[in-house]
Amino acid sequence: MPIIDSIKEWKNKRRAVILVHNYQPGEIQDIADFLGDSLDLSRRAASTDADVIVFCGVHFMAETAYILSPQKKILLPDPNAGCPLADTITVDQLRKLKSENPGAKVVCYVNTSAAIKAESDVCCTSQNAVEIVRRLGGAPVIFIPDCNLGDYVSRQLGKDLVLHPGSCPTHDNVLVKEVLDVKSRYPDAVLMAHPECHRDVLKLCDFVGGTSAMLKFARETKARTIIVGTEKGIIYRLKKENPDKEFIPASEKLVCRNMKLVTLEKVQNALVNMDCEVRVPEDIRTKALGAIQAMLA
Ligand code: 13P
Repeated sequence: MPIIDSIKEWKNKRRAVILVHNYQPGEIQDIADFLGDSLDLSRRAASTDADVIVFCGVHFMAETAYILSPQKKILLPDPNAGCPLADTITVDQLRKLKSENPGAKVVCYVNTSAAIKAESDVCCTSQNAVEIVRRLGGAPVIFIPDCNLGDYVSRQLGKDLVLHPGSCPTHDNVLVKEVLDVKSRYPDAVLMAHPECHRDVLKLCDFVGGTSAMLKFARETKARTIIVGTEKGIIYRLKKENPDKEFIPASEKLVCRNMKLVTLEKVQNALVNMDCEVRVPEDIRTKALGAIQAMLA
């Protein structure tokens, strides 16, 4: 039986849904029950009545799904799919930042471990980071762990934030020089990028936003050629949704190795063997849930 049919059969047998992040390989995007950014995927994980969620993304996304829905089985088809950005901050480092900034609210990017979320006041994603920090009004804010996203939020709001020197290696490695080179080869193109890129790259952009916002911008812009400053996996969806437009990666290095670990075979194995479950200890889960619910409220 073709693997896609087998996945469908097992999915029905297990009463499962397949949630897929926008950076996943094309063949994984094609089997998605829901394809989206990290905020929309969290919402879906919370609202689905399926018994099992196969999360085609990275570890913190599956953990977030478990925190929201501990009664469901959350499967991560490759347990090694981590997030180097999430790994840039430890609980001890966060506690030190909190003790150095008494009274400050902690806003943690969703790209963090459950243990970090448990020590935070409110979670955010690239889609709502500016809004979440704005909601906190005049209170001092520690924003972790991505200093590029934090810097972007800070400039959008004209508010100083306490930042941690973490970044996403995929986005942070994009160089101004290479973006300028791509721009010079496509002079009529517009440039969009993820706020995890360095501010010097963002300054060159026509549009800055998370993956959902970039998909919307690409649909709405009159430009025919769009330079894409985020993980290359999104280009599959961009081309599918906009067959008349051309999409050029801002850098050939825009590949997240972790996002590419999921394969159709691993999804099939996850459904058959159910042995790649992601869970969080209950005391950490309940504290982390507070930060996630504060974001979704
Ligand atoms: P989005 O929330 O924009 O989908 O981004 C997720 C992510 O991990 C970016 O590196």
